[in-house]
Amino acid sequence: MNEKIIVAEGIRKSFRISKDKSLEILKGISLEIESLKITVIVGASGAGKSTLLHILSGLDKPDNGKILIDGKDISKMSDAQLSKFRNKRIGFIFQFHHLLPEFTAEENVAIPIMLDGASYGKALERSRELLKIVGLADRSAHKPAELSGGEQQRVAVARALANNPSIIFADEPTGNLDSANGEIIHSLFTELKNNHGYTFLVVSHNPELIKLGDVVHEIKDGTIIDGNLSSR
Ligand SMILES: Nc1ncnc2c1ncn2[C@@H]1O[C@H](COP(=O)(O)OP(=O)(O)OP(=O)(O)O)[C@@H](O)[C@H]1O
Ligand SMILES: [Mg+2]
Repeated sequence: MNEKIIVAEGIRKSFRISKDKSLEILKGISLEIESLKITVIVGASGAGKSTLLHILSGLDKPDNGKILIDGKDISKMSDAQLSKFRNKRIGFIFQFHHLLPEFTAEENVAIPIMLDGASYGKALERSRELLKIVGLADRSAHKPAELSGGEQQRVAVARALANNPSIIFADEPTGNLDSANGEIIHSLFTELKNNHGYTFLVVSHNPELIKLGDVVHEIKDGTIIDGNLSSR
């Protein structure tokens, strides 16, 4: 396995804000994300964190720059290849869980496993293992509405792990939770890293998340500025 799971070079991205005006949000960002660590990127609202995450995961395209994930240049992939690659290699956790309301917790986690080609039975087996890891073995048959906010987000974490991804991207993963439930999710990330070998890239406007990171960066004025933010 590649020690640098993501290598990004010279990422630029502008958005048109009016007919004849555009704003450069990412001004040539270069970044390396290490395997088996939790990397946290903090920055003010509007700094470009979600934009950067979308670009690093191939959900959006940069105007300039190059991104290697596991040594593979994602700009060279077709949309179909990229979406297959994403389903297999990248897990996503967002502020809102986006679980499918009509399916149970175990079905929500099983769906991406089936999309990757597994049978329903195999997918459910793996789904139940994952729900056990996130501490929800006894809630697997609940639908999202029958779970607390913190539990819903733990199902979303299990779903992100579904296909054993090389990296998990989390965008404000605890932004919708109270501090106690937020802490549970943070401890879960640390446990998943330490005991299960997962790699995380977490972005947040909340400086509280600095303590979660093995590596911490700040994004400001379209660039990464590295002060002494790291807590370890
Ligand atoms: N599709 C788009 N079209 C135009 N402008 C956009 C688009 N997406 C993002 N922007 C602008 O780019 C800037 C960065 O947005 P982004 O969502 O990346 O910020 P963020 O750091 O994630 O903020 P937050 O902490 O509020 O989530 C914002 O000013 C936003 O309005
Ligand atoms: Mg954002």
